[in-house]
Amino acid sequence: MWITKDHPFILFGDIEPELSVKPDDFIDSRDTGLPDESKYLIIFDPPHEFNYQRNKGWVSTPNQELAIEKWGSKSTYYGPDIYKTKTELLEYIYQSQKEFNRILMPSGVVFLKWAERRIPLNEVLELFRGWQLMMKIPVYKKGPEKTDTYWVLLMKHPEGDPQLELTSFSKSKRIDQE
Ligand SMILES: C[S@@+](CC[C@H](N)C(=O)[O-])C[C@H]1O[C@@H](n2cnc3c(N)ncnc32)[C@H](O)[C@@H]1O
Repeated sequence: MWITKDHPFILFGDIEPELSVKPDDFIDSRDTGLPDESKYLIIFDPPHEFNYQRNKGWVSTPNQELAIEKWGSKSTYYGPDIYKTKTELLEYIYQSQKEFNRILMPSGVVFLKWAERRIPLNEVLELFRGWQLMMKIPVYKKGPEKTDTYWVLLMKHPEGDPQLELTSFSKSKRIDQE
């Protein structure tokens, strides 16, 4: 996906210590420690899956040497083992959008990537409460199958409240079993 993350203005953050391509910094997107209104753009590609077991397959293995040794191929790690339930994953996305709203400048944007493996995009977009949905771009897929992956552009809205609906989200969506 990336051509390069190597640019003086790009800060590549991740919480996973075993990633073979190390981030510039270990940053939790829910609590980045970055100053208010200090960024123009955030590219947010969260895990799209939950409840995988670590190192049980190459997609749940962040360490490429281990993946090659065990499965004979380089791993493509998407963090599917980090959040154990659907609620946990959605809660993490909700907390992250709140943090993004804080650190983005007033005209800042988030590019969100979402693959509808187990959770429809609309459910994820419901968590972005202080934002204007600007664009939804399906990722082209070869063949007859419909794509399940989208890039979504969201812009901070001056009247938006990123905290809105946390209570109803937490109370009404007990969806761990799905
Ligand atoms: C779908 S992958 C993104 C891969 C990335 N787009 C790339 O191409 O290099 C999701 C990543 O989110 C990271 N992640 C999960 N929870 C996080 C958090 N709270 N803060 C920062 N990164 C997190 C995972 O470790 C995983 O590497």
